[in-house]
Amino acid sequence: MIITIDGPAAAGKGTLAAQLAQKYKLAYFDTGMVYRAVGLLMRLNHFDLNDESKAENLAQKLTFPQMMELSQNSEFRSSEGGVAASIVSSQPKVRAALLKMQQDFALKPVFADGTPANGAIYDGRDTGTVVCPNADVKFFITASTEVRAKRRFEELKTKGKDTPFEKVLQDMIERDERDAKRATAPMKPAEDAYIFDTSALSIQEVVQKAEEIIENKH
Ligand code: DC
Repeated sequence: MIITIDGPAAAGKGTLAAQLAQKYKLAYFDTGMVYRAVGLLMRLNHFDLNDESKAENLAQKLTFPQMMELSQNSEFRSSEGGVAASIVSSQPKVRAALLKMQQDFALKPVFADGTPANGAIYDGRDTGTVVCPNADVKFFITASTEVRAKRRFEELKTKGKDTPFEKVLQDMIERDERDAKRATAPMKPAEDAYIFDTSALSIQEVVQKAEEIIENKH
């Protein structure tokens, strides 16, 4: 079984994915990681983030283990890391270079310890439209910009990052715009996606709705 969850930053995709992955014994691929990895490599090399051919080159060489290693860097999940990921993800050549790595995961899904899984759950922006257009169940999860900025602000705080709320909100607005307006694979729900607005829903409510849909499909 392949499930995709797309939507803007901090809408609750990761939390939903983690719960569904555990319940249905699915391997989890947070596809934002591939763009965060390339964005971080660009920053570590002091390259201009808008230099598409440099980013493409790094993307072509990126491997799964290298991405996992980069994810340990404290800048990987920072607000700046999200902005860098969003910039490189708007470059068509970077997206093309990273597509196969994402699609290959569905062919042989494995858990973090390398054991095989029953299927995979993807989260990202285009996993239901481009990466896995034939997924069994697709969700598109969203929430108001303020609610998402507040969630991201709290999350950064628990990680010891004291980014001012106004900055988190501004980054979120700019990132949403870039993700939704880019020419290649813009963030949008697949035609057959179930759409949830989580602004006023608890995580338990979201998980319950998603489980009902998955179980009615199987
Ligand atoms: O989900 P995230 O915040 O880790 O994603 C970081 C950036 O990567 C996001 O701003 C847009 C991009 N992204 C994308 O373009 N396509 C995906 N499937 C996942 C993420």
